[in-house]
Amino acid sequence: MTVSRGFVSDNASGVHPRVLAALTAANEGHVPSYGADPFTAALRERARDVFGADATIFPVFNGTGANVVAVQAILQRWDAVVATVESHMVNDESTAPQLVGGTRIVTVPSEAGKATPELLAPAFDAYDGTVHHARPAAITVAQSTELGTTYTLGELAALTGFARGRGARVHLDGARLSNAAARLGTGLGELTAGVDVLSFGGTKNGLLLGDAVVVLDPALAEGVDRLRKASAQLASKLRFVSAQLLALLEDDLWRENAARANAAADLLAERLAALGVAPRYPVEANAVFVPVPPDVLARVVAEAPVLAWDAGTVRAVASFDTTEEDVDALVATLARLVRP
Ligand SMILES: Cc1ncc(COP(=O)(O)O)c(C=O)c1O
Repeated sequence: MTVSRGFVSDNASGVHPRVLAALTAANEGHVPSYGADPFTAALRERARDVFGADATIFPVFNGTGANVVAVQAILQRWDAVVATVESHMVNDESTAPQLVGGTRIVTVPSEAGKATPELLAPAFDAYDGTVHHARPAAITVAQSTELGTTYTLGELAALTGFARGRGARVHLDGARLSNAAARLGTGLGELTAGVDVLSFGGTKNGLLLGDAVVVLDPALAEGVDRLRKASAQLASKLRFVSAQLLALLEDDLWRENAARANAAADLLAERLAALGVAPRYPVEANAVFVPVPPDVLARVVAEAPVLAWDAGTVRAVASFDTTEEDVDALVATLARLVRP
């Protein structure tokens, strides 16, 4: 089979060799199931080092599952969570939040994928406090966002401050938290200050499969433990998910992988700029949204390994193993088809 690397998604990539080695090492003998194993214990310790002493990590199968479990943990059954219209929870998780989580989502517009207190406020102001309406009780924001932008620490502080002021909880969809932290040069814990519960991505950053819910408010931990099982997200052979996450968090592999993906996205943006093509949104993580004339979009998607995003845009996402040659090959195809 020909080896190729494209830009359709960062989950089209393979597994980082250190993660594969960790899986092989975890494949020795028998250990207790459902998380009572030494790999999960070591991961719990490491997660406290990385996310803070109050953190508890719960490995899950995927990002949708992490979001579904995490958001249930911060809502009562009569509550709603407020999300941007671009959020993955709204657009790309089918009815999982409703079907599995029983979650009502209220949407607000964004600025390049980002929520702001001003954009969130109307969703809270509209609530009249009666039993007839769902109570907005939490916000969920993605870091980095679905449009490849990244909240600064100041922007995040404004959001968590706003939520506190409204008596609301905060969920961070960190499917690409590592890319945001690598971009900002922060630790993962620093980026989650003021957050109650986090979905932490592994699959898009070099794992075979596996994401996690990280609970930062200890009062929520028991609920998440039970909700993970009740939401069908508890693996019996959990050691294999935990061993991968442990490899990612050890020796900052998360940062190394994310920084490489980010650098490839930067290179792509740079090469496009030389062609006179400006991305639709600031390139602040590992995704580049490239404007494409609607009449050539079908050809672009047929000939280049990118995702059709909307009628006039394709999305190119770099991975931990994207090379300069991969970027050059994509740019050559785009130059042929979309050069202004
Ligand atoms: C912002 C965001 N959240 C969550 C996910 C997790 O999705 P999945 O359930 O496919 O792992 C993704 C994947 O595309 C994503 O982009």
